[in-house]
Amino acid sequence: MDTPDYAPVIEAALARLDLDAKCRLLAGQDLWTLPALPEIGLGSLVMSDGPIGVRGGGLGGAEDPSLALPSPTALAATWEPALARRAGRVLAQEAHRKGVHVLLAPTVNLHRSPLGGRHFESYSEDPLLTALIGAGYVTGLQESGVAATVKHFVANDAETDRFTVDNQVPERALRELYLAPFEQIIESAHPWAVMSAYNAVNGPTMTEHRPLQIGVLREEWGYDGVVVSDWLAARDTVAAVEGGLDVAMPGPDTVFGPALAAAVRDGRVGEATVDTAVRHVLLLAARVGILAGAEPAVAPEQRPTPEDGTAFARELAARSFVLVRNERQALPIDAASGGSIALIGRAAHDPRFRGGGSAAVYPVHVVSPLEGLRAALPEDVTLTYALGTDPDVELDTAGASFALRAVLCDGDGTVLADEPVPTGKLRWVASELPGGADYDALATVELTGTFTPEQSGAHRFGTHGVGALRLTVDGTVLHDGLAAPVDTDPIDAVTGRAVPRGTIELKAGQPVRVSLLNTAPKASYGPMRGVLFSLAHSEPEPDDDALFAEAVAAARAADVAVVVVATTERVESEGFDRADLRLPGRQDELVARVAAANPHTVVVVNSGSPVEMPWREQVAAVLLSWFPGQEGGAALARVLLGLSEPGGRLPTSWPVRLADAPVSQVTPEDGVLRYEEGVFIGYRAWQRHDLAPAYPFGHGLGYTDWAYEGLEAVGRTVTVRLRNTGTRTGREVVQVYLAGTDALAGVERPTHWLAGFASVVAGPGETVAAEVVLPERAFQTWDATAGTWATAPGGYRVLAGRSATDLPLATDLPPATGL
Ligand code: BGC
Repeated sequence: MDTPDYAPVIEAALARLDLDAKCRLLAGQDLWTLPALPEIGLGSLVMSDGPIGVRGGGLGGAEDPSLALPSPTALAATWEPALARRAGRVLAQEAHRKGVHVLLAPTVNLHRSPLGGRHFESYSEDPLLTALIGAGYVTGLQESGVAATVKHFVANDAETDRFTVDNQVPERALRELYLAPFEQIIESAHPWAVMSAYNAVNGPTMTEHRPLQIGVLREEWGYDGVVVSDWLAARDTVAAVEGGLDVAMPGPDTVFGPALAAAVRDGRVGEATVDTAVRHVLLLAARVGILAGAEPAVAPEQRPTPEDGTAFARELAARSFVLVRNERQALPIDAASGGSIALIGRAAHDPRFRGGGSAAVYPVHVVSPLEGLRAALPEDVTLTYALGTDPDVELDTAGASFALRAVLCDGDGTVLADEPVPTGKLRWVASELPGGADYDALATVELTGTFTPEQSGAHRFGTHGVGALRLTVDGTVLHDGLAAPVDTDPIDAVTGRAVPRGTIELKAGQPVRVSLLNTAPKASYGPMRGVLFSLAHSEPEPDDDALFAEAVAAARAADVAVVVVATTERVESEGFDRADLRLPGRQDELVARVAAANPHTVVVVNSGSPVEMPWREQVAAVLLSWFPGQEGGAALARVLLGLSEPGGRLPTSWPVRLADAPVSQVTPEDGVLRYEEGVFIGYRAWQRHDLAPAYPFGHGLGYTDWAYEGLEAVGRTVTVRLRNTGTRTGREVVQVYLAGTDALAGVERPTHWLAGFASVVAGPGETVAAEVVLPERAFQTWDATAGTWATAPGGYRVLAGRSATDLPLATDLPPATGL
């Protein structure tokens, strides 16, 4: 793509703006948009989360559905930048459909610890795999005319105290691991936006980090796009603008806008600094086609040919599934000659198709494994379903069995609004209260109505969110509490867990009155003001013993048992880190019991990140399906039945137990999280400590076998020859690692590190060659004393194979190959 010369139109527009208008343009006018400036023919720039879809405006919801692709971990598991590029193109179609100019994705932070709450939303423990997948995604979006936002710059690798944590990252690790994906994506895919992270790095908070945001990002790497804050991350007018931040989000009240104009007027900020930021925003506006006089970077007729998003979602899911174990060829299931399958597990019926938090999007429909299998199986195959156990018995938003209204009153008790609400979740921004009620006048909000139980038994109730809450069910006050102090980070109030408030015995079919009165309903987070609280409920706890017995009987009666296990949104989501890697509830016990009843037991793991699988050697096959997006069930059916090969390879090592993971800590001490392990995360750390994970980085089986037969290196071009020795056509991800053969004085390097990869397809008996060009950077380390990259002297060995621990081929490179 040639970049048009936008300078003349940008300079002309800038010259026509006064200081107030310029500063207004650098601040959100609401949650997702910048103001239009009609005087220069500038439209309002619209942003939306990502990364698996395009959620659109508001606080997000089912009212504005979007295609939902598989999670970022799944995308990385394809090891296929071309698929990431197609994902970007498909999402750009969604963005155009919804009038969105900027997608707030991809997330290219690293899997430093398996406990990281947003692990599912980033790609890998390896910076090269992250960079290549991220670059593909950015290219796909931007060649379709939609801006990508590479986030979160930088080292936002965990969630605990994310607004305040100071991540102390040694310089070499910062360069070789955490900055590396940003650097490579900027160099190869030229993103139009970058989001700066909430956290601090080695002292300064990222939003104000001049050495990284200006010194490295702009001056060293030549980045010309916009730097946007993470939501509510900008806290100081002068420090942020001087530190290289261009846009403060969300609005309407931010540290930029009028506060920035005032800082210029009283001499604390030079107007030239503001002009620089405005130029960046105008360039973005020109690129996406909302600045008069500037041709968009991609005219509508130049966009790639649209493709069917649903079909792509299905293809991508199948390509991402990782078959980590397949004893006695348990998969694929042979359904051609009849037989029976017992499908077991809550997630087989209600899958976790996506991760939680700002990454949530709401598709029109989600294909469950049960639906997918039913549709794909021949009629003479019997399919039974058993719940087995329900891991998701925690409190959930009051839903279909409730008939609720929200009554908003002022301080005198005068009703400002009284409207029905579909669920017990109230989430309003101040300017959009029901019935146009005035936020300033608001004193109380009551959620009131009836609940009609479907089951008799002990029903649990709870509350969530901000306020002074009094909960009454059937005349009994279950809770009457003071307002909790409002946190600085709204994520818990938006997506966090409900607090149990009490249990009450109820009879099926007999309605009872319910009231949740909030006498301090105003929630404000810096500039963001609104109402955020909800009523939660959960059904009487199921009788696990009866459910286990039913599942075991179904498994025993079937030829094949397929158990789908999953994490829940309560244990794996944005806003908090995981406490452990166990599957929630009694799912481990369920798998063990089913496996004891049927030797042909296949387990599908529906999680965004690693879980412990204590039963893994007792079952015939284990297939990781990640959070597979809206078409996950259809893709799963194809893979289980052998219509598609599971195409994925692990983008991250899966430990046997959390305790084995060489790097796991995510909790700061005295506000500081030390990246003490330096460059040794992921497989680099497992090797260094001579530890074996359950399944290593790069591992994944297909439905055929491969023999690695030859490796040749000419300069930095490596050719790997391999033969499909199985009986069906297959795809293989050929991985190439580098190892230094000479010790370097004072620099400890990993035993070997990923330097390139390529996938090949071959029919039975065919030989194919994979060609991989090793980037120069693969031969370099960061010299912190000199402040520069240094090509390490000495020899190198190239290793090729199927995972970080299965590398059958090796050859030495002559010294100086990397130069
Ligand atoms: C997240 C960002 C997201 C933003 C807007 C933040 O809490 O960290 O990734 O883009 O919210 O939803």
